[in-house]
Amino acid sequence: MQDFIPATLLKFTTVIKEITLQELNPEKFINERIKEIRNAVGDGIAINALSGGVDSSVVTMLGYLALGKRLKSVFVENGLMREGEAEMIYNLFEKLDVEVEIVDARAEFYDALKGVTGPEEKREAITQTFYRNVFGRIVRESNAKYLLQGTILTDVDETVAGIKRQHNVFVQLGIDPHKAFGYKIIEPLIRLRKEGVRKIGETVGLPASLFARIPFPGPALAARIIGEVTPERIDTVRKATVIVERLLESSGAFQYLAILHEDRVTGMRDGKREFGQQIEIRCWNSKDSRIARPTKLSFDLLEQMAEEITNSVPGVVSVTYNIATKPPSTIEAI
Ligand code: XMP
Repeated sequence: MQDFIPATLLKFTTVIKEITLQELNPEKFINERIKEIRNAVGDGIAINALSGGVDSSVVTMLGYLALGKRLKSVFVENGLMREGEAEMIYNLFEKLDVEVEIVDARAEFYDALKGVTGPEEKREAITQTFYRNVFGRIVRESNAKYLLQGTILTDVDETVAGIKRQHNVFVQLGIDPHKAFGYKIIEPLIRLRKEGVRKIGETVGLPASLFARIPFPGPALAARIIGEVTPERIDTVRKATVIVERLLESSGAFQYLAILHEDRVTGMRDGKREFGQQIEIRCWNSKDSRIARPTKLSFDLLEQMAEEITNSVPGVVSVTYNIATKPPSTIEAI
């Protein structure tokens, strides 16, 4: 992997020291992070970017324990989330006494993604809209100086190695968020990998439906669309995702997802030709997402997914199952 690291980035790669699951003492880790957050923020307020994923949910609880009501948790409705996500997250955190503000930025994200087809260009459009436009505005209006976010070590690894520009990695690329966006970023989970994050989530009192949730990427469903991201195409992949997540929930797999392809294929429906869309299903066994293998699902289950998707997702005539490993594949599609 070292070969992929551009020389200018080498100086950033040794800075973060991993805390392995075996080394992790959850209570000690939580107390240290609470102290760090309090020291940084002082008696000010901080904004927290909550996406509902495992990492940002754990950061929300750490931030809340550190700052109480001085933590402003924001869920950005970017139009790229899974079905019913904003409402589900709002209700779940309400039960934990954490108030979540939902900011509707759908139009901004769709505008930024219009006509953008390259994977890295899409990621960059989402990063800029999220950090510069939406959070830039929220931070300015609230007078906060800090943004809390759930970057983990694996996000940094892949970005620095030049594999994928994860949406939330800056300092390790030599980007100063304060200069670029006008606020500082606090990353309490940066030394952990997924298993460690889940352990902390459990210890801070998150329900298993959150801390044991399958990973979901920052660029959300846009990471699962090949080619242009439009509201219609998001709707297609979102509907397929509902089916895939429901049918694979009991599989015990690390992560499972639906991908919408760009190429169309000839299909037939009601005796007529339909030049339709293709959905690819991926279901991964992995420990921490660095390497992954496809799960050996039963053929009956695969057939059931294909049937439900072709019957209830408009325009889809083909469903495939990915059998390649990571590497050379990656978990998401872009
Ligand atoms: P890949 O696709 O690189 O994904 O094999 C590895 C893990 O990271 C998640 N992922 C992301 N998470 N921001 C994130 O916070 C991102 O930009 C991003 N891209 C991928 C992915 O879901 C998998 O668990």
